[in-house]
Amino acid sequence: MRKIFLIILITITKPLMSLGADAPIYLDPKQPIEKRIEHLMSLMTLEDKIVQMCQYVGLEHMKEAENHMTEKELQSNDARGFYKGLHSSMVAQMVEQGKIGSFLHVLTSEEADYLQQLAEKSPLRIPLLIGIDAIHGNGLYSGSTIYPSPIGMASSFAPDLVERASRQTALEMRATGSQWAFTPNIEIARDPRWGRVGETFGEDPYLVSCMGVATIRGLQTNDFTGVDKVIACAKHLVAGGQPVNGTNAAPMDVSENALRNLFLPPFKEAIMKAKPFTLMAAHHDLNGVPCHGNKWILTDIARKEYGFDGFIVSDWMDMEALCSKHKVAKTMKDAFCLSVDAGIDMHMHGPEFAEIMKELVEEGRISEERINQACRKILEAKFRLGLFEHRYTDKKTIEKEVFSSEHQKTALELARRSIVLLKNEKLLPLDSKKYKKILVAGPNANNQSIMGDWVFQQPDKNVITILQGIKKSAPYSEVNFVDVGWNLSTIDSAKIQQTVAQAKKCDLAILVVGEDSYRQHWKEKTDGENRDRMDITLWGSQEELVEAVYKTGTPTIVILVNGRPLATPWISKHIPAVIEAWEPGSMGGQAVAEILFGQVNPSGKLPITVPRHVGQIQCVYNYKPSYNSHPVIDGLSTPLYPFGYGLSYSNFQYSNLVLSSYEIKKEESLKVSVDVTNTSAVDGEEVVQLYIRDNYSLPTRPVKELKKFKRISINPGEKQTITFDLKPDDLAYYNSQMEFVVESGEFTIMVGGSSEDKQLLKKQLSVY
Ligand code: BGC
Repeated sequence: MRKIFLIILITITKPLMSLGADAPIYLDPKQPIEKRIEHLMSLMTLEDKIVQMCQYVGLEHMKEAENHMTEKELQSNDARGFYKGLHSSMVAQMVEQGKIGSFLHVLTSEEADYLQQLAEKSPLRIPLLIGIDAIHGNGLYSGSTIYPSPIGMASSFAPDLVERASRQTALEMRATGSQWAFTPNIEIARDPRWGRVGETFGEDPYLVSCMGVATIRGLQTNDFTGVDKVIACAKHLVAGGQPVNGTNAAPMDVSENALRNLFLPPFKEAIMKAKPFTLMAAHHDLNGVPCHGNKWILTDIARKEYGFDGFIVSDWMDMEALCSKHKVAKTMKDAFCLSVDAGIDMHMHGPEFAEIMKELVEEGRISEERINQACRKILEAKFRLGLFEHRYTDKKTIEKEVFSSEHQKTALELARRSIVLLKNEKLLPLDSKKYKKILVAGPNANNQSIMGDWVFQQPDKNVITILQGIKKSAPYSEVNFVDVGWNLSTIDSAKIQQTVAQAKKCDLAILVVGEDSYRQHWKEKTDGENRDRMDITLWGSQEELVEAVYKTGTPTIVILVNGRPLATPWISKHIPAVIEAWEPGSMGGQAVAEILFGQVNPSGKLPITVPRHVGQIQCVYNYKPSYNSHPVIDGLSTPLYPFGYGLSYSNFQYSNLVLSSYEIKKEESLKVSVDVTNTSAVDGEEVVQLYIRDNYSLPTRPVKELKKFKRISINPGEKQTITFDLKPDDLAYYNSQMEFVVESGEFTIMVGGSSEDKQLLKKQLSVY
């Protein structure tokens, strides 16, 4: 203790010296956090406080750009974290001088420790808050456990597993030096051309809310105070999931009705139920007011209406975009002013912000109290995360936590439940003794594309590819792999012919096709952030490959690996067995193989509608009553696969839908029960789904809205009675006056194993 005190006295600079012999309160862990914050802030100059609002990208990230890009590329590029006129060595000096409060994308524990050491040498010794996009495992860090990407997590309809995976992600992050996860992405995805669909939980506000809450609870737990916790970041506020032409960051014109009933509910739920300590604003222009300058969304709704009580971070260079892109601010200074006034508390990322913000305060355009508010919250995070006392990583914790066997187990369990069986004409499950020679081919069969977006290269030994999984599950077969390469754009007729030649010699063909959103394939990837498409068919010559193999007559199975829904009507019509694996992560190959060979019974359900054709967009299950009243004349209008759909090797029969009351008052709750019987001879898991419809209303309501679901495990021949509680809030919506109300009238209550009409039992409920 005495030693620490001496060090403090020696290293402390001017402001601390003024404390005389007293131990600085803010460095004393025994003091209450509120008191520590106030004390520290009393020592800080305006500039020091603004520094807390400043974030930079990691030094190694910068060096990558410095070493691998041409001078010309560097001058025009902001995507790799290059700061014009600012070399990475100068950024290091700034940390030591106490001029940076936060970093993002620090990709090794060594770099995290190095930066924290520099920060510890700074006058006030304030630790850095380090953020990273750990959206399905801490994937930018090499060696992490990679869970299925969020769209797959949503397919599991298992929030408990998602919470567990998120908790484990938090442990891996803290062990390796990051304390802030830029996740969950709780946008509602309504356009599959948009490359970011895979990092969302799909199209339904209720499912997205449940998964968002589970992710935040896993990352932060009930209280993120502690040295093994991280803070979450619910993003992006709001409504970026239906951009013009499906292109990322394109403008959104959306009514307040749609905002409140469709796009905002996951944020409301997340903030009210799980209290994420941070939010991130969205890139786009929302009804003419870009989100980064939208005080109504950031302050009036998020903070005042929902009670958000943390800090809001800007997205990548999006404060600047108010001037450079949206043209709502003439100068960078006006842009920063607009953003901070609207509610942004931290700048992601780069130089100029601190100096300009200081000028804005001095000129009276931003109040010092506004800076204090932002600074106080950022410091609160640093104190509660225990960073002042525990800013460094340690090898033992890294060894214990990162890719631990327990984490691998969760990744496997989640992958098993995230995979959706789309079609099965009695081909699956495969009898492992039946096939002498199995062909495995396709660009996603034997590489890390199964990891999904926001993942950098992982050690090969940590990844079970689909080929490896199949080899393990088919010990009696000769498995022949034709390597067409991972690059989806380079599959040519020679590779197709090679695959066909092998297919002819085999008695089964398994083709692993889809998309590539793996970040390591930066230039070639077809899916993921900023990889938006004008079509949603299979990329390149993949469909030709499938058709050619099918024509050999060898029974063919297609496994899709992708983040966005793919329109594959030919495959759905001709191929006897089709599996949607999404991007199943480190253990994905094992999970896929176990499903193929029946060691695991598939149970994932689609969290998003799969259209037949790009022209059907917008193709969602929760459409308004007049949708499709004049169907298109050149194709079918029904989806290829509906929301909530997914097959099993068991058969489930739904019967006996009963409401505890068929007439209730608006403020009353009711119970809905249904019997589910497993009429097959195999154990299975089923996701029981409850939808409602407000039969008549003004404004109009969707024809179906998911309100409850439950994943159950059910033995052969067993019948289970499942009961749901429906509360007034489940029937309520925002009316024309934007009041959250239950309307009197008739509702349809529907329960079944998918949103498809023919699968649903229905009863009428009268509300008065
Ligand atoms: C994305 C954010 C992400 C940030 C930092 C941006 O391009 O939109 O979701 O958190 O980069 O990586």
